[in-house]
Amino acid sequence: MTDAERAQRFPDRRVVVTGAAGGLGQVVADLFRSEGARVVATDVAEGDGVVACDLSDDAARDAFVADALEELGGLDVLCNVAGVQQFAELGTLTAAGLRRHFDVNALAPLLLAQGFSEALIESKGNIVSVASISAVMGQPYNAQYCASKAALLLGMRSLAVELGTQGVRVNCVSPGGIDTPMIHAAAHGLPATADWNLVAKSQSVMPGFMPPIEVAENLLYLASDAAASVTGANLVVDRGVVW
Ligand SMILES: NC(=O)c1ccc[n+]([C@@H]2O[C@H](COP(=O)([O-])OP(=O)(O)OC[C@H]3O[C@@H](n4cnc5c(N)ncnc54)[C@H](O)[C@@H]3O)[C@@H](O)[C@H]2O)c1
Repeated sequence: MTDAERAQRFPDRRVVVTGAAGGLGQVVADLFRSEGARVVATDVAEGDGVVACDLSDDAARDAFVADALEELGGLDVLCNVAGVQQFAELGTLTAAGLRRHFDVNALAPLLLAQGFSEALIESKGNIVSVASISAVMGQPYNAQYCASKAALLLGMRSLAVELGTQGVRVNCVSPGGIDTPMIHAAAHGLPATADWNLVAKSQSVMPGFMPPIEVAENLLYLASDAAASVTGANLVVDRGVVW
């Protein structure tokens, strides 16, 4: 795509991107900005031009929504990218660990959608959330992540039905392995007793982790007018994972 074509996709569109201090979220926020959007980026971690907010904290999240709406004067696109992942064998799962995965990966995106829904209905905007191939396949030692991403995926599909009648589209992108801090931390976090035959069962046809930009492009496609008839979709971007 030429720079001239890029510049036309999101002129003055008001966009919120979560998880934008690094990894995929940062690339998504930069890409929106490069195409003319006004972006409010947020993360629990510190980052350049990023508003600090722990999205699992109800009061902090509500304050963030109010501030973002005031700064942007409405909203056209909500991009839920923030997420957490930690491997844990069944025997080591804790309620706190499970709750953290659900709080960040499922509850926060749904509650952000609620907080921004009025603005999105007014602008006939859209929501794009990053789920994962883990939302639709069983993976060893990954129950808390898989379960939370499955909840996100179906929650967003439900919102697609609920908000669709009011002109708001809701979609997910489900990536396979992306070359970001998360996947490298995950690899180190596998249990010492991991059964490598199980871990190795899930492989992509095209080798290697994806550069974040190759996933980000798909988020922007779903957020763009080119996807005007796409809602309730789960766009899988995984280099062809087979199980
Ligand atoms: N990396 C992969 O292989 C992969 C694969 C499939 C899906 N995903 C998903 O892609 C998204 C982006 O992940 P990434 O790969 O860039 O990983 P990452 O760890 O680099 O980025 C995730 C970001 O979310 C932020 N975050 C975590 N908890 C938060 C909270 N409570 N409040 C606000 N922000 C919080 C982190 O600080 C971090 O900047 C995540 O939803 C992840 O689950 C990643």
